Formats: sequence, C-alpha cells, structure tokens
Amino acid sequence: MKGLILSGGTGSRLRPITHTGPKQLVPVANKPVIEYAVEDLKNAGITEIGVVLGHKGREEIQEHLGDGSDYGVEITYIIQGNPLGLAHAAGTARDFVGDDDFVMYLGDNILNEGISELVDSFEAGNYGAGIALQRVDNPQAFGIADVDDDETVTRLVEKPDDPPSNLALIGIYVFSPAVFDAIERLEPSWRGELEITDAIQELLEDGFAIDSHTVDGWWKDTGKPKDILEANRLVLQDTEQLLTGTIKDGAEVTGTVQIGESATVQNGAVIRGPVSIDSGTTIASGSYIGPYTSIGPNTTIDGAHIENTVVIGESRITCDEKIVNSLIGRASEIESAKGLLPDGHRFVIGENSNVKL
Ligand code: TTP
Repeated sequence: MKGLILSGGTGSRLRPITHTGPKQLVPVANKPVIEYAVEDLKNAGITEIGVVLGHKGREEIQEHLGDGSDYGVEITYIIQGNPLGLAHAAGTARDFVGDDDFVMYLGDNILNEGISELVDSFEAGNYGAGIALQRVDNPQAFGIADVDDDETVTRLVEKPDDPPSNLALIGIYVFSPAVFDAIERLEPSWRGELEITDAIQELLEDGFAIDSHTVDGWWKDTGKPKDILEANRLVLQDTEQLLTGTIKDGAEVTGTVQIGESATVQNGAVIRGPVSIDSGTTIASGSYIGPYTSIGPNTTIDGAHIENTVVIGESRITCDEKIVNSLIGRASEIESAKGLLPDGHRFVIGENSNVKL
C-alpha cells in the first residue's frame, strides 16, 4: 500500500494567508496541517508517500518535508500543475503508484482517529475503492454515499437535493490501481474539474465493490479561516502538557499548556490552556493567552488578551486589546495607536483580508 497526499490546489478560500504560502503548511496547534496526513499514513504502516504539488507553494512544501526521512517515510514529489480536480491530481500519480493499492489523503484534512480502520477494512475484502464517511447535518452540501448493511456503497450522489443518507465523503480514500482507467474516461464536471466522486461512481458501474468506513471521531477540512480555528481547537483539546520553555515566577499558567524550547512566559502573564506556544516566543507581563490559542515561533505578545486564535508566528502583538477568533499571518505586527493623532485605527492589510472592529 502506498500513500498519496494532495497538496496542489488554489487555496482561494484561505486568502490572504495563501497569497504567500500553501495552505497545507498553515499550522494547527503549531504543526503544519500536512504533517498530520504524513503521520496518519506512517501510523497505518504506509511509508512510501507521493506528494502531489501544484504551482503554489511547491518549493515550500518540498523544503519543509524534504525526502521524508525526518518523519520516517520516503517522499516522492509529483507535479500536477494547474488544479484540474482531485481525480486529475490522483491521475498524475499513476507511475508512482504502479500496481499497488494506495490511500489518497487531502493535504488540508485532519482526522482525529487516524486511517488504520479504513485501510484494514479495505484490505479485508476485494474492493475497487474504500471511502471514509462521516455523518453530517447538511448532506445537501456534500458528496453523499448510499450504503447497505455491510457498509458496501451502492450509490454516490454529489450535493443531492433529496439525500439518500447523511453519510458524507470526507477527504480520505483507498484505491486499487483500477481507478486510473476510470479517471482516464472522466469528463470535466460543470465546474471544469475531474471529480473523484465521478471516478468512484465509474468504478461502481464497472462492477467493482466499494467499501466504506464511517468515521466516528472528528474530521476537519481546513479550507477556510474558521476551519483552521476549529481544527486548532479540536487538536488542542486532546494535547498533553509539554513544558520545554520557561515559566517565570509570578506567571499564572493553568490547564493543558505546551511551551516550546526557549519560549518564555514572564512574571505577570496569564495563560489558561489548552494553549500551545512555540519556540522562541515571549508572553510578556500583562498579557493573557486564553483557551484554544496557538502562538507560533519567535513572537512577542505584550499586553494583549488573546483567545481562540492562531498566530502563525514571527509576529509582534503589543497592543492592550482583546483579540478573539482570529487567524494572524506570519510576520504581522499589531501595535497600539493610543496617543497617536489623528485618533483612529490604522491598517496595512493585504488583498482579501478581513477585519472586524
Ligand atoms: P480543495 O480545498 O477542494 O481546493 P483548493 O485547495 O483549490 O481550495 P479553494 O477551493 O479554497 O480554492 O482541495 C482539497 C485538497 O486537494 C487540497 O489539499 C488541495 C488538493 N488539490 C490538489 O492537489 N489538486 C487539485 O486539482 C485540487 C482541486 C485540490
């Protein structure tokens, strides 16, 4: 079994963060999203991994993951170029996959329970594909599977008006190499993409059995800013205490907290976990870091109250303000305008930014 992580795409819903880097490297609990996929594959015993790259962030992803040896896996990079759809991305991996079965993992997805059960279930039968499903409240917005009593898929429907179930396809699939012939026969959908649901439907029509596994734990697609915050919350609520940095006397730290190497929580700072603070960061006196917040590396927080927020890193936040539910890009500076004239807020914000005052 091989692994394939899709890391092309446009990332348009995560602008402006994705103007300067790929969404798969956005940190969730101070770990880039794509590393969760690499770890899940590794934990399922899959160490030969192909990473499909588009135009955006190609070099950054290769530089970050390297040859995979830091993660105990072997990574091959496959260039898709233009994002012509998930099935197109899978199709570019035909030579890499060869005659093996493979797990396809969307590089911006995080799954709490890992993928071993999905892989085991696929391997226990003779299937053309295996799909991971999760019950959703709004099946009209998803690709939906109709399954029989032993979880074999009988039908797939994309964004149905009248859903046959509430079991939505999530971003992890297992395929036999038969999928490549199915992909070659596909025509672009109404949105101009080769759709993976169409490829699975082709397999069904070719007479292949399709396995499914219903995921009970949480799953998150981190395509939008609010999804990053939600994934950050879900990951932090399960993390364990890890104190590598320094908590000075007089600092008040409660709850589960991770404090990275050479990070400092100064006297008079308050932290209420779950919180993750990365290496080299300083939380100065008078600052408050509240639950479900991740502060990236080499950042200074001085005087601000921050909650349910991801600060990606290399930043300075030195204003005496409350910041909540925010995603703050790398190398940002948020400082006080008090005393400056004329009175008012001052911004230098990039294209597609969003500010609520
Ligand atoms: P999506 O989130 O569906 O697409 P996107 O990354 O283009 O984002 P947006 O809709 O905000 O513009 O992609 C899911 C994952 O699959 C993501 O990791 C990118 C990857 N992908 C590819 O590798 N190739 C593709 O052609 C597409 C569409 C996505």
